[in-house]
Amino acid sequence: MQNRAQLLKTLYLTQGKFISGEKLSHRLGVSRTTIWKYIRYLREQGYRIESRTNQGYRLQSTPDLLIPEELSWRLTSDSFGREIIYRAEIDSTNRLARELADSYDEGTIVVAEKQRAGRGRRNRDWYSPAGTGIWCSIILQPVFRPEKAPLLTIIASLAVSRALEAKGLNPKIKWPNDVLLNGKKICGVLSELNADLEGIKYAIVGIGVNVNQSEFPEHLEDKAGSIYLITGKTLKRACLLVEVLDLLEDYYTQLTNDPRTDLLEQWKSRLTMINKRITINSQGRIYRGIARDVSERGELILETESGERRSFWAGDTSLV
Ligand code: BTN
Repeated sequence: MQNRAQLLKTLYLTQGKFISGEKLSHRLGVSRTTIWKYIRYLREQGYRIESRTNQGYRLQSTPDLLIPEELSWRLTSDSFGREIIYRAEIDSTNRLARELADSYDEGTIVVAEKQRAGRGRRNRDWYSPAGTGIWCSIILQPVFRPEKAPLLTIIASLAVSRALEAKGLNPKIKWPNDVLLNGKKICGVLSELNADLEGIKYAIVGIGVNVNQSEFPEHLEDKAGSIYLITGKTLKRACLLVEVLDLLEDYYTQLTNDPRTDLLEQWKSRLTMINKRITINSQGRIYRGIARDVSERGELILETESGERRSFWAGDTSLV
């Protein structure tokens, strides 16, 4: 795969010009027949690559795919995304990541074009149609205490927010983990933990981003949106995912090594609802009050109508 990624990178960077088979084979250190096989593979994936006698190959157009070849040459991370398990279709990337967590290195990602049974928080379905969103799960083996695990969800929503801000957008975060654009949910994070008294065995951070969808099923239309529906622009999903993974690796390293990191503050500064009157539905009960803060461990602190402060690990919030 690394060689094919290298070939794709070279074709991208030669930007519309021809590059000879000989040069390519020299650069990659493989035979011209192998180059030809790689080209055939890329064409099968949907890349239009023109070939001309005596001139070589030229990239004409590229599909919007999350295949390892697209991701790996763009990544600057050390471990996140260095191993990529790619599926055109899957039930849920979190499910496969859980299954593989013990046998793969930290930072391995499971990514799919489509999920048949994408999961959201509270065992909800997560709408994951083909080729339009980012459905990705990262396998982690954190060395910190399980109490710190909610921060994994926090840094994931922060990474998505920062990647969108870099594109000139103005996302907001809705506790515990939704990223909103113009009030519509465009991203959710589902973290799953396998821990015992000794510590965390593994954590799976599942990220779903609605990127290029042009419509949603009726029951989601009110709350969900896609970056395309909000900005009118389609994005190359591989570029966005790579930016998120690069940022997330940096935040994860800070979380692991730097006790004075201000990631929580960065995340809080993007929260909607702070100092607003809200209701929170937690474990089947509804609480009312003013959302005052989020604790160091990621709990929402609600000032109830009687003036008492209560913290919540999980729940659904809405403005009243
Ligand atoms: C939420 O309810 O807001 C969380 C949604 C998380 C969806 C992502 S998509 C990739 C990964 N695989 C899943 O089945 N779910 C997460």
